[in-house]
Amino acid sequence: MTSRRLLVTGGAGFIGCNFLRHWIKTHPDDRLVVLDALTYAGNLASLPDLQTRSNGRFVQGNIGDRALVDSLLKTEAIDTLVHFAAESHVDRSILGPAAFIQTNIVGTFTLLEAFREHWQQQGRPDHYRWLQISTDEVYGSLGPADPPFSETTAYAPNSPYAASKAGSDHLVRACHQTYGLPTLITHCSNNYGPYQYPEKLIPLMCINGLLGRSLPVYGDGQNIRDWIHVADHCRALEAALEKGIPGESYNLGGNNQIKNIDLVRQLCTYLDDRAPDLPRRPAHSLIRYVSDRPGHDRRYAISTAKAARELGWQPAIKFEHGLRHTVSWYLNHKHWWQPLLSAAYRAYYRQVYGEDGAAET
Ligand code: NAD
Ligand code: TYD
Repeated sequence: MTSRRLLVTGGAGFIGCNFLRHWIKTHPDDRLVVLDALTYAGNLASLPDLQTRSNGRFVQGNIGDRALVDSLLKTEAIDTLVHFAAESHVDRSILGPAAFIQTNIVGTFTLLEAFREHWQQQGRPDHYRWLQISTDEVYGSLGPADPPFSETTAYAPNSPYAASKAGSDHLVRACHQTYGLPTLITHCSNNYGPYQYPEKLIPLMCINGLLGRSLPVYGDGQNIRDWIHVADHCRALEAALEKGIPGESYNLGGNNQIKNIDLVRQLCTYLDDRAPDLPRRPAHSLIRYVSDRPGHDRRYAISTAKAARELGWQPAIKFEHGLRHTVSWYLNHKHWWQPLLSAAYRAYYRQVYGEDGAAET
Protein backbone atom coordinates (compact mmCIF):
# COMPACT_ATOMS: atom_id res chain seq x y z
CA MET A 1 0.00 0.00 0.00
CA THR A 2 1.22 3.53 -0.73
CA SER A 3 1.79 5.79 2.24
CA ARG A 4 -0.95 8.01 3.61
CA ARG A 5 -1.02 11.52 5.01
CA LEU A 6 -3.27 11.49 8.05
CA LEU A 7 -4.90 14.26 10.04
CA VAL A 8 -5.76 12.74 13.42
CA THR A 9 -8.13 14.90 15.48
CA GLY A 10 -8.24 14.36 19.25
CA GLY A 11 -4.87 12.58 19.18
CA ALA A 12 -4.00 13.81 22.69
CA GLY A 13 -7.00 11.97 24.15
CA PHE A 14 -7.29 8.37 25.29
CA ILE A 15 -8.04 6.44 22.11
CA GLY A 16 -6.31 8.91 19.81
CA CYS A 17 -2.93 8.60 21.56
CA ASN A 18 -3.16 4.81 21.55
CA PHE A 19 -4.03 4.93 17.85
CA LEU A 20 -0.99 7.12 17.13
CA ARG A 21 1.32 4.64 18.87
CA HIS A 22 -0.21 1.81 16.89
CA TRP A 23 0.05 3.69 13.59
CA ILE A 24 3.67 4.74 14.10
CA LYS A 25 4.59 1.08 14.58
CA THR A 26 2.54 -0.32 11.72
CA HIS A 27 2.94 2.53 9.18
CA PRO A 28 6.26 4.22 9.95
CA ASP A 29 6.36 6.00 6.59
CA ASP A 30 3.00 7.75 6.88
CA ARG A 31 2.75 11.45 7.66
CA LEU A 32 0.89 12.02 10.96
CA VAL A 33 -0.55 15.45 11.72
CA VAL A 34 -2.38 15.69 15.04
CA LEU A 35 -4.96 18.40 15.68
CA ASP A 36 -6.13 18.69 19.28
CA ALA A 37 -7.60 21.59 21.26
CA LEU A 38 -6.11 20.23 24.53
CA THR A 39 -9.34 20.49 26.45
CA TYR A 40 -9.36 19.10 30.00
CA ALA A 41 -9.26 15.60 28.41
CA GLY A 42 -6.34 16.30 26.06
CA ASN A 43 -2.86 15.76 27.41
CA LEU A 44 0.50 16.37 25.78
CA ALA A 45 1.98 13.81 28.18
CA SER A 46 -0.10 11.12 26.46
CA LEU A 47 1.31 11.77 23.00
CA PRO A 48 4.04 9.64 21.50
CA ASP A 49 7.09 11.60 20.40
CA LEU A 50 5.94 13.27 17.19
CA GLN A 51 8.21 16.29 17.11
CA THR A 52 11.46 14.35 16.62
CA ARG A 53 9.95 12.29 13.81
CA SER A 54 10.45 14.03 10.53
CA ASN A 55 6.98 12.89 9.43
CA GLY A 56 4.97 13.82 12.54
CA ARG A 57 3.51 17.12 13.78
CA PHE A 58 1.30 18.29 16.63
CA VAL A 59 -0.96 21.32 16.20
CA GLN A 60 -2.95 22.75 19.08
CA GLY A 61 -6.26 23.95 17.68
CA ASN A 62 -9.98 23.48 17.44
CA ILE A 63 -11.76 21.33 14.84
CA GLY A 64 -14.25 24.22 14.56
CA ASP A 65 -11.54 26.65 13.37
CA ARG A 66 -12.24 26.54 9.66
CA ALA A 67 -9.28 28.66 8.57
CA LEU A 68 -6.84 26.51 10.54
CA VAL A 69 -8.34 23.26 9.27
CA ASP A 70 -8.36 24.49 5.63
CA SER A 71 -4.74 25.44 5.85
CA LEU A 72 -3.69 22.12 7.45
CA LEU A 73 -5.56 20.04 4.88
CA LYS A 74 -3.95 21.98 2.06
CA THR A 75 -0.39 22.50 3.24
CA GLU A 76 -0.11 18.96 4.60
CA ALA A 77 -1.87 17.43 1.56
CA ILE A 78 -4.03 15.31 3.87
CA ASP A 79 -5.78 12.31 2.31
CA THR A 80 -7.04 10.54 5.44
CA LEU A 81 -8.95 12.14 8.28
CA VAL A 82 -9.26 10.08 11.46
CA HIS A 83 -11.78 11.87 13.63
CA PHE A 84 -11.51 11.17 17.36
CA ALA A 85 -11.94 14.71 18.72
CA ALA A 86 -15.08 14.97 20.82
CA GLU A 87 -16.50 15.74 24.20
CA SER A 88 -16.75 12.15 25.37
CA HIS A 89 -18.05 11.79 28.92
CA VAL A 90 -21.75 11.04 29.55
CA ASP A 91 -21.78 12.54 33.08
CA ARG A 92 -20.34 15.83 31.80
CA SER A 93 -22.95 15.87 29.01
CA ILE A 94 -25.65 15.69 31.67
CA LEU A 95 -24.13 18.59 33.63
CA GLY A 96 -23.56 20.75 30.52
CA PRO A 97 -24.69 19.54 27.10
CA ALA A 98 -23.83 22.72 25.18
CA ALA A 99 -20.15 21.89 24.74
CA PHE A 100 -21.16 18.51 23.29
CA ILE A 101 -23.37 20.12 20.67
CA GLN A 102 -20.68 22.65 19.84
CA THR A 103 -17.80 20.21 19.40
CA ASN A 104 -19.46 16.96 18.38
CA ILE A 105 -22.03 18.43 15.99
CA VAL A 106 -20.98 21.96 14.98
CA GLY A 107 -17.24 21.19 15.17
CA THR A 108 -17.62 17.97 13.19
CA PHE A 109 -19.73 19.78 10.59
CA THR A 110 -17.05 22.45 10.11
CA LEU A 111 -14.33 19.84 9.77
CA LEU A 112 -16.42 17.75 7.40
CA GLU A 113 -17.17 20.73 5.15
CA ALA A 114 -13.47 21.57 5.04
CA PHE A 115 -12.51 17.99 4.19
CA ARG A 116 -15.24 17.69 1.55
CA GLU A 117 -14.11 20.87 -0.20
CA HIS A 118 -10.47 19.78 -0.01
CA TRP A 119 -11.40 16.39 -1.53
CA GLN A 120 -13.43 18.08 -4.29
CA GLN A 121 -10.62 20.52 -5.07
CA GLN A 122 -8.23 17.57 -5.44
CA GLY A 123 -10.55 15.98 -8.04
CA ARG A 124 -12.46 13.66 -5.67
CA PRO A 125 -9.75 10.99 -5.32
CA ASP A 126 -11.06 7.48 -4.51
CA HIS A 127 -8.39 6.74 -1.95
CA TYR A 128 -9.31 9.63 0.39
CA ARG A 129 -10.98 8.53 3.63
CA TRP A 130 -12.92 10.14 6.48
CA LEU A 131 -12.94 7.72 9.42
CA GLN A 132 -15.64 8.63 11.92
CA ILE A 133 -14.98 7.17 15.38
CA SER A 134 -18.44 6.68 16.81
CA THR A 135 -19.91 4.76 19.69
CA ASP A 136 -22.41 1.97 20.39
CA GLU A 137 -24.23 4.49 22.63
CA VAL A 138 -26.03 5.97 19.59
CA TYR A 139 -28.17 2.80 19.54
CA GLY A 140 -29.58 3.39 23.03
CA SER A 141 -30.17 0.75 25.66
CA LEU A 142 -30.94 -3.00 25.47
CA GLY A 143 -33.12 -5.18 27.66
CA PRO A 144 -31.65 -8.35 29.17
CA ALA A 145 -32.83 -10.64 26.35
CA ASP A 146 -32.45 -8.26 23.39
CA PRO A 147 -30.09 -9.24 20.58
CA PRO A 148 -26.89 -7.17 20.35
CA PHE A 149 -26.72 -3.97 18.29
CA SER A 150 -26.03 -4.52 14.61
CA GLU A 151 -25.20 -1.96 11.91
CA THR A 152 -28.92 -1.81 11.00
CA THR A 153 -30.17 -1.14 14.54
CA ALA A 154 -32.07 2.17 14.60
CA TYR A 155 -30.40 5.08 16.40
CA ALA A 156 -32.06 5.83 19.77
CA PRO A 157 -29.55 7.88 21.79
CA ASN A 158 -30.45 8.53 25.42
CA SER A 159 -27.79 10.91 26.77
CA PRO A 160 -26.81 14.32 25.39
CA TYR A 161 -23.40 12.75 24.62
CA ALA A 162 -24.96 9.92 22.61
CA ALA A 163 -27.35 12.32 20.85
CA SER A 164 -24.47 14.59 19.83
CA LYS A 165 -22.48 11.65 18.48
CA ALA A 166 -25.58 10.48 16.60
CA GLY A 167 -25.98 13.94 15.05
CA SER A 168 -22.34 13.90 14.04
CA ASP A 169 -22.71 10.43 12.43
CA HIS A 170 -25.78 11.58 10.48
CA LEU A 171 -23.85 14.50 8.99
CA VAL A 172 -21.08 12.13 7.91
CA ARG A 173 -23.53 9.66 6.40
CA ALA A 174 -25.32 12.46 4.53
CA CYS A 175 -22.02 13.73 3.16
CA HIS A 176 -21.37 10.31 1.65
CA GLN A 177 -24.88 9.93 0.25
CA THR A 178 -25.06 13.45 -1.15
CA TYR A 179 -21.53 14.21 -2.32
CA GLY A 180 -19.94 10.75 -2.46
CA LEU A 181 -17.24 11.58 0.11
CA PRO A 182 -15.51 8.26 0.96
CA THR A 183 -16.52 7.92 4.60
CA LEU A 184 -16.38 5.06 7.10
CA ILE A 185 -18.17 5.00 10.45
CA THR A 186 -17.19 2.68 13.28
CA HIS A 187 -19.30 2.15 16.40
CA CYS A 188 -17.23 0.85 19.25
CA SER A 189 -18.22 -0.30 22.72
CA ASN A 190 -16.57 0.83 25.99
CA ASN A 191 -12.79 1.03 25.69
CA TYR A 192 -10.29 0.52 28.49
CA GLY A 193 -6.48 0.58 28.71
CA PRO A 194 -3.60 3.01 29.26
CA TYR A 195 -3.96 6.82 29.14
CA GLN A 196 -7.71 6.98 29.86
CA TYR A 197 -8.74 10.15 31.69
CA PRO A 198 -9.56 9.50 35.39
CA GLU A 199 -13.27 10.35 35.13
CA LYS A 200 -14.14 7.09 33.29
CA LEU A 201 -15.10 3.94 35.20
CA ILE A 202 -11.94 1.82 35.04
CA PRO A 203 -9.29 4.51 35.66
CA LEU A 204 -11.52 6.09 38.31
CA MET A 205 -11.72 2.79 40.21
CA CYS A 206 -7.97 2.12 39.85
CA ILE A 207 -6.98 5.60 41.01
CA ASN A 208 -9.50 5.82 43.86
CA GLY A 209 -8.45 2.35 45.04
CA LEU A 210 -4.77 3.34 44.99
CA LEU A 211 -5.61 6.48 47.01
CA GLY A 212 -7.86 4.63 49.48
CA ARG A 213 -10.94 6.59 48.34
CA SER A 214 -14.40 5.16 47.91
CA LEU A 215 -15.37 3.38 44.71
CA PRO A 216 -18.72 4.86 43.60
CA VAL A 217 -20.97 2.39 41.75
CA TYR A 218 -24.07 3.96 40.19
CA GLY A 219 -27.53 2.60 41.01
CA ASP A 220 -27.68 -1.13 41.64
CA GLY A 221 -24.45 -1.86 39.74
CA GLN A 222 -26.29 -4.23 37.38
CA ASN A 223 -25.79 -2.14 34.21
CA ILE A 224 -23.97 -4.08 31.54
CA ARG A 225 -21.24 -2.82 29.23
CA ASP A 226 -19.21 -4.65 26.58
CA TRP A 227 -15.55 -3.80 27.25
CA ILE A 228 -12.86 -3.79 24.60
CA HIS A 229 -9.16 -3.15 25.07
CA VAL A 230 -8.12 0.04 23.27
CA ALA A 231 -5.38 -1.84 21.38
CA ASP A 232 -8.02 -4.11 19.82
CA HIS A 233 -10.02 -1.02 18.85
CA CYS A 234 -6.96 0.55 17.18
CA ARG A 235 -6.35 -2.62 15.14
CA ALA A 236 -9.98 -2.49 14.02
CA LEU A 237 -9.61 1.14 12.89
CA GLU A 238 -6.57 0.14 10.86
CA ALA A 239 -8.56 -2.71 9.27
CA ALA A 240 -11.43 -0.31 8.51
CA LEU A 241 -9.07 2.13 6.77
CA GLU A 242 -7.45 -0.65 4.77
CA LYS A 243 -10.45 -2.82 3.92
CA GLY A 244 -13.60 -0.83 4.72
CA ILE A 245 -16.01 0.06 1.96
CA PRO A 246 -16.82 3.78 1.66
CA GLY A 247 -20.30 4.58 2.94
CA GLU A 248 -20.36 1.55 5.25
CA SER A 249 -20.42 1.39 9.03
CA TYR A 250 -18.87 -1.29 11.23
CA ASN A 251 -19.69 -2.26 14.79
CA LEU A 252 -16.74 -3.05 17.04
CA GLY A 253 -16.77 -4.61 20.48
CA GLY A 254 -14.93 -6.91 22.82
CA ASN A 255 -17.50 -9.75 22.90
CA ASN A 256 -17.28 -9.29 26.62
CA GLN A 257 -20.42 -8.22 28.47
CA ILE A 258 -20.03 -7.68 32.19
CA LYS A 259 -22.08 -6.03 34.95
CA ASN A 260 -20.48 -2.94 36.46
CA ILE A 261 -20.37 -4.37 39.97
CA ASP A 262 -18.71 -7.58 38.77
CA LEU A 263 -16.12 -5.56 36.88
CA VAL A 264 -15.37 -3.40 39.92
CA ARG A 265 -15.03 -6.46 42.17
CA GLN A 266 -12.66 -8.11 39.67
CA LEU A 267 -10.62 -4.91 39.48
CA CYS A 268 -10.43 -4.83 43.29
CA THR A 269 -8.89 -8.31 43.41
CA TYR A 270 -6.19 -7.15 40.98
CA LEU A 271 -5.54 -4.06 43.10
CA ASP A 272 -5.18 -6.27 46.18
CA ASP A 273 -2.73 -8.50 44.25
CA ARG A 274 -0.65 -5.86 42.55
CA ALA A 275 -0.50 -2.85 44.87
CA PRO A 276 1.66 -3.64 47.90
CA ASP A 277 0.98 -0.35 49.69
CA LEU A 278 -2.77 -0.05 49.13
CA PRO A 279 -4.07 2.32 51.86
CA ARG A 280 -7.24 0.24 52.36
CA ARG A 281 -7.53 -3.48 51.77
CA PRO A 282 -9.29 -5.47 50.70
CA ALA A 283 -10.05 -2.89 48.01
CA HIS A 284 -13.65 -4.04 47.68
CA SER A 285 -14.36 -2.65 51.18
CA LEU A 286 -14.24 0.79 49.46
CA ILE A 287 -17.20 0.06 47.15
CA ARG A 288 -20.17 2.40 47.72
CA TYR A 289 -23.46 2.35 45.85
CA VAL A 290 -24.34 5.94 44.90
CA SER A 291 -27.27 7.70 43.21
CA ASP A 292 -27.84 6.49 39.69
CA ARG A 293 -26.87 8.49 36.60
CA PRO A 294 -30.04 10.08 35.11
CA GLY A 295 -31.15 8.18 31.99
CA HIS A 296 -28.50 5.51 32.68
CA ASP A 297 -28.50 3.00 29.80
CA ARG A 298 -29.03 -0.47 31.19
CA ARG A 299 -27.19 -2.67 28.74
CA TYR A 300 -24.99 -2.39 25.67
CA ALA A 301 -24.01 -5.38 23.56
CA ILE A 302 -22.66 -5.28 20.05
CA SER A 303 -22.31 -7.81 17.26
CA THR A 304 -18.90 -7.82 15.61
CA ALA A 305 -20.01 -10.25 12.88
CA LYS A 306 -19.77 -7.72 10.03
CA ALA A 307 -16.32 -6.51 11.07
CA ALA A 308 -15.14 -10.12 11.33
CA ARG A 309 -16.57 -11.01 7.94
CA GLU A 310 -15.67 -7.88 5.96
CA LEU A 311 -12.61 -6.50 7.73
CA GLY A 312 -11.13 -9.81 8.92
CA TRP A 313 -10.90 -8.34 12.42
CA GLN A 314 -11.71 -9.78 15.82
CA PRO A 315 -10.84 -8.61 19.33
CA ALA A 316 -7.88 -10.61 20.64
CA ILE A 317 -7.22 -9.38 24.20
CA LYS A 318 -8.94 -11.41 26.92
CA PHE A 319 -10.66 -9.14 29.41
CA GLU A 320 -9.02 -10.71 32.46
CA HIS A 321 -5.57 -10.20 30.99
CA GLY A 322 -6.33 -6.69 29.68
CA LEU A 323 -7.85 -5.51 32.96
CA ARG A 324 -4.97 -6.90 35.03
CA HIS A 325 -2.50 -5.16 32.75
CA THR A 326 -4.48 -1.90 32.91
CA VAL A 327 -4.54 -1.96 36.73
CA SER A 328 -0.75 -2.41 36.68
CA TRP A 329 -0.41 0.46 34.21
CA TYR A 330 -2.22 2.89 36.55
CA LEU A 331 -0.16 1.59 39.46
CA ASN A 332 3.07 2.25 37.52
CA HIS A 333 2.05 5.57 35.95
CA LYS A 334 1.20 7.75 38.94
CA HIS A 335 3.33 10.46 37.33
CA TRP A 336 0.84 10.47 34.42
CA TRP A 337 -2.41 10.66 36.40
CA GLN A 338 -1.46 12.57 39.56
CA PRO A 339 -1.26 15.96 37.75
CA LEU A 340 -4.76 15.34 36.35
CA LEU A 341 -6.36 15.36 39.82
CA SER A 342 -6.43 19.15 39.70
CA ALA A 343 -8.73 21.61 41.46
CA ALA A 344 -10.93 21.59 38.34
CA TYR A 345 -11.14 17.78 38.43
CA ARG A 346 -12.00 17.85 42.14
CA ALA A 347 -14.73 20.43 41.48
CA TYR A 348 -16.16 18.20 38.72
CA TYR A 349 -15.94 15.21 41.07
CA ARG A 350 -17.90 17.03 43.79
CA GLN A 351 -20.58 18.00 41.26
CA VAL A 352 -21.14 14.38 40.23
CA TYR A 353 -20.52 12.54 43.50
CA GLY A 354 -21.52 15.16 46.05
CA GLU A 355 -19.62 17.21 48.62
CA ASP A 356 -18.49 14.10 50.48
CA GLY A 357 -17.20 12.47 47.25
CA ALA A 358 -19.47 9.42 47.69
CA ALA A 359 -18.75 9.30 51.42
CA GLU A 360 -15.01 9.48 50.94
CA THR A 361 -13.15 7.75 53.68
P1 NAD B 1 -11.15 11.72 25.20
O1 NAD B 1 -12.16 12.58 25.89
O2 NAD B 1 -10.14 10.97 26.00
O3 NAD B 1 -10.33 12.60 24.15
C1 NAD B 1 -10.94 13.56 23.33
C2 NAD B 1 -9.82 14.41 22.71
O4 NAD B 1 -10.43 15.35 21.81
C3 NAD B 1 -9.03 15.23 23.74
O5 NAD B 1 -7.65 15.13 23.45
C4 NAD B 1 -9.53 16.66 23.54
O6 NAD B 1 -8.56 17.64 23.84
C5 NAD B 1 -9.87 16.64 22.05
N1 NAD B 1 -10.89 17.64 21.70
C6 NAD B 1 -12.08 17.87 22.32
N2 NAD B 1 -12.73 18.87 21.72
C7 NAD B 1 -11.95 19.28 20.69
C8 NAD B 1 -12.08 20.28 19.69
N3 NAD B 1 -13.18 21.07 19.64
N4 NAD B 1 -11.10 20.42 18.78
C9 NAD B 1 -10.01 19.64 18.82
N5 NAD B 1 -9.81 18.69 19.75
C10 NAD B 1 -10.78 18.51 20.67
O7 NAD B 1 -11.99 10.72 24.28
P2 NAD B 1 -11.71 9.21 23.87
O8 NAD B 1 -12.23 8.31 24.93
O9 NAD B 1 -10.30 9.10 23.41
O10 NAD B 1 -12.70 9.08 22.63
C11 NAD B 1 -12.26 9.44 21.33
C12 NAD B 1 -13.41 9.26 20.35
O11 NAD B 1 -13.87 7.91 20.40
C13 NAD B 1 -14.63 10.12 20.68
O12 NAD B 1 -15.16 10.60 19.47
C14 NAD B 1 -15.60 9.17 21.35
O13 NAD B 1 -16.94 9.55 21.12
C15 NAD B 1 -15.27 7.87 20.63
N6 NAD B 1 -15.52 6.65 21.41
C16 NAD B 1 -15.02 6.50 22.67
C17 NAD B 1 -15.22 5.30 23.36
C18 NAD B 1 -14.65 5.11 24.75
O14 NAD B 1 -14.96 4.07 25.38
N7 NAD B 1 -13.79 5.97 25.24
C19 NAD B 1 -15.96 4.28 22.78
C20 NAD B 1 -16.46 4.47 21.47
C21 NAD B 1 -16.22 5.66 20.81
P1 TYD C 1 -18.26 5.25 31.73
O1 TYD C 1 -16.84 4.82 31.85
O2 TYD C 1 -18.62 6.65 32.11
O3 TYD C 1 -18.71 4.92 30.24
P2 TYD C 1 -20.20 5.00 29.55
O4 TYD C 1 -21.10 5.79 30.40
O5 TYD C 1 -19.85 5.69 28.29
O6 TYD C 1 -20.64 3.57 29.37
O7 TYD C 1 -19.17 4.29 32.61
C1 TYD C 1 -19.21 2.90 32.40
C2 TYD C 1 -20.29 2.33 33.30
O8 TYD C 1 -19.90 2.50 34.66
C3 TYD C 1 -21.64 3.01 33.14
O9 TYD C 1 -22.67 2.05 33.28
C4 TYD C 1 -21.67 3.99 34.31
C5 TYD C 1 -20.87 3.26 35.38
N1 TYD C 1 -20.14 4.13 36.33
C6 TYD C 1 -20.27 3.93 37.71
O10 TYD C 1 -21.02 3.04 38.16
N2 TYD C 1 -19.59 4.74 38.55
C7 TYD C 1 -18.78 5.74 38.10
O11 TYD C 1 -18.20 6.50 38.93
C8 TYD C 1 -18.64 5.93 36.69
C9 TYD C 1 -17.75 7.01 36.13
C10 TYD C 1 -19.33 5.08 35.84
